[in-house]
Amino acid sequence: MIFVTGSAGFIASNFILNYLENYDEKVLGIDNLTYASNIPLLEDLKKNDKFLFYKLDINNSLEIEELLYTYKPNKIINFAAESHVDKSISNPDSFIKSNIVGTYNLLKCARKYQSECFRINSKDFIFLHISTDEVFGSLEPEEASSTELSQYKPNSPYAASKAASDHIVRSFNRTFNLNTITTNCSNNYGPYQFPEKLIPLIINNCLLETSLPIYGDGLSIRDWIYVEDHCNALIAIMENGKIGESYNIGGENQISNIELVKHICTLLDKKKPSSNLKTYQDLIKFVPDRLAHDKRYSIDIAKIKEHTGWKPKKNLTIGVSETVDWYLANLDWLENIKNNDFEKWIKNQYQ
Ligand code: NAD
Ligand code: TYD
Repeated sequence: MIFVTGSAGFIASNFILNYLENYDEKVLGIDNLTYASNIPLLEDLKKNDKFLFYKLDINNSLEIEELLYTYKPNKIINFAAESHVDKSISNPDSFIKSNIVGTYNLLKCARKYQSECFRINSKDFIFLHISTDEVFGSLEPEEASSTELSQYKPNSPYAASKAASDHIVRSFNRTFNLNTITTNCSNNYGPYQFPEKLIPLIINNCLLETSLPIYGDGLSIRDWIYVEDHCNALIAIMENGKIGESYNIGGENQISNIELVKHICTLLDKKKPSSNLKTYQDLIKFVPDRLAHDKRYSIDIAKIKEHTGWKPKKNLTIGVSETVDWYLANLDWLENIKNNDFEKWIKNQYQ
């Protein structure tokens, strides 16, 4: 059995779907079901005999320990986190509590469990910590891509909270021999992403024919990876990654925000033309920049390629087109996922 924290979130849900389909192993999901959780998919997953779910905060040591000793997982994959940069700017508290203290708490439980149930330095047990390329901070246009050895220079409270958690994970490996591996991945996109993030937000707003907010000049660059590629990278690392190491994961697809948004508009102009607008691009609205907005992320993925043979498969043009198709085919899901918290957020953040 494997434990997956944050199991109702975007990436973990995709990971669990993929894992249950391809591996004959049980998955136990843990999530405290914040506003970002995907309840409709969780309800579907619960119908699978190989999936068990516990509504639980990763800060709850007592119950986490009890689950570890009851189910004896051979892996903990820690996806649980507050993940939206803008929210970390308007209210960082929960980022500190879940991303830093929560990870520390999970590590403490895992350390005790590993030392009592497994041999040191075997790969019988792995604590896989899922992190972000945002820990490396912003790159200048000509600067080389971030490698695993690049300095951590986080700029947002979100990035800083993930950087702190990465450091604590590393220390538990070095100091206590906990079998950890950390991954730092670039921006994900694909099915089931909560519409607060750029790509689903733009699709959602086009469909509602409301403005498409572009922060600053729109020239910030992100390196996008299709979520399925990320999930496959994690499986490759579980199989062939080295304990105590960290691995960068990226899609090798860099594009500026404005180019990406225009591309989504063009796709929707073809796939679902508006009867009121000549093009969805007419909805683009430049709004004040995000505080400390990172100009560019770019991630070097030579190490994961060398250690595991994994490389990303989906190019951005195909991936974004498939993602737009997915949202058009799942309009009910999109409507249901937009809870009151989301509507309140959109109002406060953009109006
Ligand atoms: P998400 O916001 O969609 O999901 C996070 C999930 O964690 C939610 O279901 C939430 O309820 C749960 N959660 C939050 N705090 C918790 C707590 N204290 N206890 C239990 N559950 C808790 O996020 P995501 O985009 O799926 O990201 C998952 C992980 O991947 C995060 O650690 C994030 O930092 C990392 N990551 C994300 C991206 C990206 O582009 N989305 C890129 C790289 C890394
Ligand atoms: P986002 O999806 O929030 O991911 P991250 O901040 O973790 O990279 O944002 C991606 C890029 O899009 C980032 O440069 C900020 C920009 N952006 C906008 O221009 N407008 C928006 O409304 C949002 C949510 C993001």
